[in-house]
Amino acid sequence: MNQESKGNHLIFDGCDTVELAKQYKTPLYIVSETCIINKCREIHEDFLRKYKNTKAVYASKAFLNIEMCKLITREGLGLDVVSGGELYTAIKGNVPMKDVVFHGNNKSLDELKMAVSYDVGRIVVDNGYELQMLSQIAKEENKIVHILFRMTPGIDVKTHKYISTGQVDSKFGVPFQNNTLHDYVCEIEKMSHIKLEGFHFHIGSQLLDNEAHLMALEVLLNLIKDLRDTIGFETSEINLGGGFGIPYTKEDEPRGIKYFIEPMMDKIYEKCQLHSLSIPQVVIEPGRWIVGEAGMTLYTMGSIKDIPGVRTYASVDGGMPDNPRPSLYNAKYEAVIANKYDKVEDEMVTIAGKCCESGDILIWDLKVPAVEPGDILAVMRTGAYNYSMSNNYNKLPRPAVIMVKEGNSRVVVRREMYEDLIRRDVLFNE
Ligand code: LLP
Repeated sequence: MNQESKGNHLIFDGCDTVELAKQYKTPLYIVSETCIINKCREIHEDFLRKYKNTKAVYASKAFLNIEMCKLITREGLGLDVVSGGELYTAIKGNVPMKDVVFHGNNKSLDELKMAVSYDVGRIVVDNGYELQMLSQIAKEENKIVHILFRMTPGIDVKTHKYISTGQVDSKFGVPFQNNTLHDYVCEIEKMSHIKLEGFHFHIGSQLLDNEAHLMALEVLLNLIKDLRDTIGFETSEINLGGGFGIPYTKEDEPRGIKYFIEPMMDKIYEKCQLHSLSIPQVVIEPGRWIVGEAGMTLYTMGSIKDIPGVRTYASVDGGMPDNPRPSLYNAKYEAVIANKYDKVEDEMVTIAGKCCESGDILIWDLKVPAVEPGDILAVMRTGAYNYSMSNNYNKLPRPAVIMVKEGNSRVVVRREMYEDLIRRDVLFNE
């Protein structure tokens, strides 16, 4: 993770994190550009260059801003967006619209119109209601809209309930059972302005083994064969979603992209050959895997409260508004004291946020060297779904985001100010 120590300080992508905390203040999101670039290059090497007719799009919900759009485009990946707001950011970040995939289980009429007018490359249709709306818009705009249909493969995955999406009982997509998809395919074939390219699934997030992806793929490949055999529909593209997990703690095993991709590609080639199906274009859309390990959050420690025989709470200047994941999903993080990086960790503290919520605990029972107010806490691997899920609870201004690369740093999202917190309040003259 481009992490080392120098004079007891934690160094991240060549930058002294204690100096960064001084220069940019805390709480502070730091994102390593080198780490993101390395991840993108691994995708090129083990997926895009290795297999013909493949595409990778970055799931921007994990972490999105203008600079990230530029970085992802430079690295040759497309962008998955899930709302008008993400699409707007992609437009402003000059992402080529042909490389954008638009998702969502309840896209609004306005969002669909926006996507069609900007010629977004693929719209992943989630349900019949959306299909009708889109067909109407495409006709009005006189454009051919290229779509995938999202199917739920009926797979239960090993992850938190709130981030599993492939089970039958899901708000996303159309279940593959009961011929529902067959009926939709026949309906789409009759639509003059909609071109169905194929199917998409996304079964869940933070999956650390590849079993569930393979099971979902099996269901999808059977569907493709069945559609060809029964109604003569040829699938030209499949999108296998994201969900590839990263190690958050020492117990999690790190997984290269190859671990997930290779068995899936083997299965696709095998099955297609067996059933004389032409190999479709294969798309993946990792979010967390690209950006999760590239991020770190710095906090300054404030009050330290020891309850003898119970525990010691060390409170920091952020918490659940900048990282809602521990309170939402019971997510685990590791952290170090950035200004005491080489010191022996012989004490135990619980890291509390500063919100008026007992549940605002970032890390339970963290081993640390002796801590004191003013120490800098660095929480590791916060690159995914921290900044993007941050909020202003208790009117805490959101931290700045800085990108670091080989010893250089720059602000890519400025810190919120108190004025930002009331910017949209309507003031009436008395
Ligand atoms: N594609 C689709 C259609 C998705 O819905 C998602 C994530 C992804 C790709 C990317 O998944 P990833 O590779 O990042 O696992 N807020 C939660 C994660 C929600 C994921 C939602 N969909 C968390 O903090 O764990």
